[in-house]
Amino acid sequence: MIYFDNSATTKIDSSVLDTYNKVSKAYFGNPSSLHDLGETTTGLLTQSRKLIANLIGVKEGEIYFTSGGTEGDNWVIKGTAFEKAAYGKHLITSEIEHPAVKESIKQLQRMGWEVTYLPVDKNGVVSVKELKAALREETVLVSVMAVNNETGSIQPIDAIGTVLKDYPSVHFHVDAVQAVGKVDFRIGENSRVDMAVFSGHKFHGPRGTGFVYVKQGRKLESLMSGGGQETGQRSGTENVPGIVAMAKALKIAMEQQSEKQGKMRKLMDSLRQYLSSLDFVTIFTPEESAPHILCFGIKGIKGEVTVHALEKEGIFVSTTSACSSKKQAESSTLTAMGIPKSVAETAIRVSLTDLNTQEEMNRFVDTFNTIYQSFKVIQ
Ligand SMILES: Cc1ncc(COP(=O)(O)O)c(C=O)c1O
Repeated sequence: MIYFDNSATTKIDSSVLDTYNKVSKAYFGNPSSLHDLGETTTGLLTQSRKLIANLIGVKEGEIYFTSGGTEGDNWVIKGTAFEKAAYGKHLITSEIEHPAVKESIKQLQRMGWEVTYLPVDKNGVVSVKELKAALREETVLVSVMAVNNETGSIQPIDAIGTVLKDYPSVHFHVDAVQAVGKVDFRIGENSRVDMAVFSGHKFHGPRGTGFVYVKQGRKLESLMSGGGQETGQRSGTENVPGIVAMAKALKIAMEQQSEKQGKMRKLMDSLRQYLSSLDFVTIFTPEESAPHILCFGIKGIKGEVTVHALEKEGIFVSTTSACSSKKQAESSTLTAMGIPKSVAETAIRVSLTDLNTQEEMNRFVDTFNTIYQSFKVIQ
């Protein structure tokens, strides 16, 4: 089996799974309990928070644990909108956001907020000029992802941050779910980013884990009311084994990052080079993109047909994203890039981790080549 669908989810690392099991068995106390078992698990939470904060260059008190990317995006977007409704009801986002962002914003739009959707260029990159033009007195939130999940295009987060330095009251949210371990994404002390969202299962951590960075001093309305965990921002008994395991997975993902990125880049470059030699293949991912995603299609062949043909040979990839695959929805990123629907429908996405090998890529190329030659006859 060759698994090239790592942007949909990754296989949990075996040492991370061992940690998860160990903590589940030995430290099952509720961190809110006053007894020793509770105290010990509180200690584990504190250590995990510290480790994560150090890894992404922020303060411990700026990290909040969640159930993953979708919850994080919902919280920071709606939490900002509700918190700042009295000051303004204008939100800015891009046309290529993940549904966790897009649908949260659409829900607010139905409730009366005004939204500007920033277009992207032919490489799928948001225009900073358009952002500047869209900012208004009533703008309370700018939400732009770090790395697009369908094409791997990298967004100009630092340049947006520079523009927003002149708008200190605007919350700047970055969905960093596809960035961790794949591009150099660390927040650091001087960053203009106010909130960033992360998901454990995208970096070999357990499913149903995630965390959010919220800059000290930024206020968000909480969405989960209850027992007041996470300093009242996200109630609900903490998933201690998941959190400890996620922290470990993040540490592993961020170790030797440049070597890992280099390895993925080399594999993708070899795939790109091969695909570029084929007359009936369109490559959608721009050259300057994250190293782990390559989106392309065979002219005239629907993406799902190619996905199933590869699957028959034991190779697992997606159409443009796992979310749109089942719904057979067209790719919103490719559409925003100006690609006609009939061409966008051909897209498949190969997504790697640093654990993938050149042997796997060679086998992928051989198998794809056989499929391509058989489809080519139809052209
Ligand atoms: C960019 C991006 N944001 C958010 C999410 C949602 O994350 P989760 O699956 O942890 O809810 C995903 C998942 O694919 C994603 O790629």
